[in-house]
Amino acid sequence: MSAVAVRRIGVVGAGTMGAGIAQLGCAAGFRTLLHDPLPEALEAGERRVRGGLDRWVAKGRADSAAADLLGTVAALDDLAGCELVIEAIVEDLDAKLALFAELEGIVRADTILATNTSALSVTEIASAVETPERVVGMHFFNPAPLMPLVEIVRAELSSDEAVEAAFRFGERLGKRPIRCHDTPGFVVNRVLIPLLNDCLRVLDEARVSPEDLDAAMTAGAGWPMGPCTLVDLVGIDVHVHASEALYEKLREPRMAPPPRIVSMRNAGLLGRKSGRGFYSYD
Ligand code: CAA
Repeated sequence: MSAVAVRRIGVVGAGTMGAGIAQLGCAAGFRTLLHDPLPEALEAGERRVRGGLDRWVAKGRADSAAADLLGTVAALDDLAGCELVIEAIVEDLDAKLALFAELEGIVRADTILATNTSALSVTEIASAVETPERVVGMHFFNPAPLMPLVEIVRAELSSDEAVEAAFRFGERLGKRPIRCHDTPGFVVNRVLIPLLNDCLRVLDEARVSPEDLDAAMTAGAGWPMGPCTLVDLVGIDVHVHASEALYEKLREPRMAPPPRIVSMRNAGLLGRKSGRGFYSYD
């Protein structure tokens, strides 16, 4: 597989992460096509990208022409001309396998296929395609427009060219890319998921309020935001899923989600996105 010059990117999934990645693509001067099969999700994602770009234009962080680079496409086929497609759909292996198999039939032979999965195996996702050397992980952090890191994940069969092209693309987005291998949780979540679960267990063990726990970790450990605020931001469903996926693979008790947040997830208390988690949001 030879190195491909990335000019047009596709982003599949117009949720929080997909919209954030699309915003970064436009701001960095890439023609960016955002796809979501659900029209309402695509519209909401587009609003989010344009809103984020407006804020950046006002601050001089992006050019006013950046928004012209955004296209929304209702059909996956419309991603045919992209040199890089980043998947940011639901964290469900079967859904990702089906998407990658379909994408392979649409894009060019040298198109790089990246997944933003946070807890699934990139190697397993790549098994959906006949050319797994083109598949890599590009794991962004929430909120994607603001968090500098992107983990560039080498799967079992990823080619050097695909890994390096993804790395360079991360740099062109203005991110700080790091290279790592496809192990459960990669780098950050391998450390952060059990740490957040410890924090949430302390809620009950020390009978501390979410406000005081957040104050403890911001004022006492220098975290930029407290663990309850962070889990509300990431999404309690997303955090529970990532914890379960890592626990399933590593069998370390600290990876398992505390029962309290599993109940919150089951009750629809998902954090910011549902309006209620550890805190209430308007
Ligand atoms: N587009 C453009 N601008 C945006 C924006 C967007 N999408 N979102 C926010 N902004 C703006 C804000 O409006 C704000 O502008 P002003 O300064 O003009 O008010 C600016 O960006 C900065 O926002 P904040 O004031 O909220 O910034 P902050 O200094 O408080 O930092 C933060 C925010 C970077 C999120 C910081 O709190 C932080 O680092 N938190 C930790 C987040 C974290 O750990 N994320 C990882 C989660 S784990 C994960 O993602 C992995 C996984 O797989 C689940």
